Amino acid sequence: MNLQGKTALVTGASRGIGQAIAFELAKSGIKRLLLVARNQQRLAEIAIDIAAMGVEVIPLVLDLTDRVRVNIVISQAWRDYGQIHLLVNCAGVAYQAPFLQSKLPHVQEEIAINLLGMYTITRLLARRMVSQQEGTIVNVASLMGKVAAPTMSTYSATKFAILGFTQALRGELASHNVRVMSLLPTLTDTDMVRDLQLFWGVIPMSPQRVAQALIRGIDRNQHEVIIGWQSHLAVWGNYLVPRLLERVIQMAAPLPSQKQFWQRLGARS
Ligand SMILES: NC(=O)c1ccc[n+]([C@@H]2O[C@H](COP(=O)([O-])OP(=O)(O)OC[C@H]3O[C@@H](n4cnc5c(N)ncnc54)[C@H](OP(=O)(O)O)[C@@H]3O)[C@@H](O)[C@H]2O)c1
Repeated sequence: MNLQGKTALVTGASRGIGQAIAFELAKSGIKRLLLVARNQQRLAEIAIDIAAMGVEVIPLVLDLTDRVRVNIVISQAWRDYGQIHLLVNCAGVAYQAPFLQSKLPHVQEEIAINLLGMYTITRLLARRMVSQQEGTIVNVASLMGKVAAPTMSTYSATKFAILGFTQALRGELASHNVRVMSLLPTLTDTDMVRDLQLFWGVIPMSPQRVAQALIRGIDRNQHEVIIGWQSHLAVWGNYLVPRLLERVIQMAAPLPSQKQFWQRLGARS
């Protein structure tokens, strides 16, 4: 896809990877950017910086779990600003906990934002893209959508689901000239991971590196953008020697010891 003169909408644009994608799109010749997130002040600050690069920016303050408002705001945006050529579904949340200590509200939030939020906005825009017979949709999954990780079971589940959703949609929309691709970052240095206990040996990358890989992926019409040698190694390892990889991940995972496990469980009961 040639980004020159096009309009893109990026969700999760107030921070982290989404913010970095917005800046990289601005550098790549995009004409207009619609930025979606809940934090009005952060969006306004980013809009000022991107506008200074000569790109028209429209901040859309939206909670993606509010289906009715998403519907209204997206319909208005299409009417007021015209065709949206590129949708980047980047908003997401992650909670880490051993499964037996996981909390239902966290699981519900992951599903509500990572899956249902993505579904809602994608449906609204995909219908319009199909009517224009033009569009590209990028769904931000994760390496954890290929290789599930202990302590991240429900987050991994949402990311596996995103890859299935993406593959099915790609097949359905291809004949309408709407491309659907996925971005699979590995550990990236953002707010999301600040409070997580990290996996041993995984080196975080910068959000800018992830965003630049996406721009190259869009340019090359890639179906899946996997970033960095560690990710490629994990994907191939999972394909060729899945049991070995599972053992390696288990050893690298920040799982509590037997003693800590019973202490935590005891403290909760
Ligand atoms: N960081 C990593 O290591 C990593 C690795 C692989 C994949 N990813 C994926 O990359 C994406 C971005 O992650 P990140 O690391 O950049 O996270 P982040 O820094 O925590 O940013 C999350 C973004 O999602 C937005 N968001 C959250 N809930 C929302 C809601 N209900 N409605 C609208 N926007 C909402 C946030 O904006 P507001 O708070 O302003 O609403 C924020 O802009 C996620 O899908 C994540 O799963 C991240």
